[in-house]
Amino acid sequence: MKADRHRLNGHKSYVLWFTGLPGSGKSTLAERMELELHQRYMHSYILDGDHLRHGLNQGLGFSAKDRTENIRRMGETAKLFVDAGIIVLAAAISPYRADRERLRSSFEEHEFIEIYVRCQLEECERRDPKGLYKKARAGEIKQFTGISAPYEPPLNPELIIDSDRLTIEESICVILDYLSDCGYL
Ligand code: ADX
Repeated sequence: MKADRHRLNGHKSYVLWFTGLPGSGKSTLAERMELELHQRYMHSYILDGDHLRHGLNQGLGFSAKDRTENIRRMGETAKLFVDAGIIVLAAAISPYRADRERLRSSFEEHEFIEIYVRCQLEECERRDPKGLYKKARAGEIKQFTGISAPYEPPLNPELIIDSDRLTIEESICVILDYLSDCGYL
């Protein structure tokens, strides 16, 4: 049972779901959080939308329907890991509120922690880590989130990280404080 696995691991399992625009810093924060958890001897695994699209989600594109399926599969995978007793750090644009709400309702209460990585579009575009905003502006990429496809911000996330105002260190502190205050650490 999950409770046995929690006892064995010495901690609970849950998912930190990072959502936000491309270039907002979701993956960076997930990776940094994993280091923090490892330092505390806590078992975790990163599910990154961008990476999963090469395997589990290969063949899915960026239409609304495909994104919904992409998020559904990521969510199902996250559920397996949480059941296995592992803390999931999930990073995906996950632009649709309804998809995220469906995810939330498929987890037990307190197992799904939605973290909105909030960053002004102008700043994401200035960072443009993969050069995709430039391509989207040039019309080379269709349905690009923030430019030609929607992003629906969470209305009631557990946490908002203003990644255009905070450093990575500060952002991680906000997350750790939340987890600690709520008994997740
Ligand atoms: S999601 O919308 O379905 O949640 P996901 O997080 O898996 O997206 O993948 C986003 C990544 O795919 C981006 O970081 C970017 O590198 C790449 N990408 C390629 N085309 C697009 C597009 N049209 N819109 C958004 N991201 C895209």
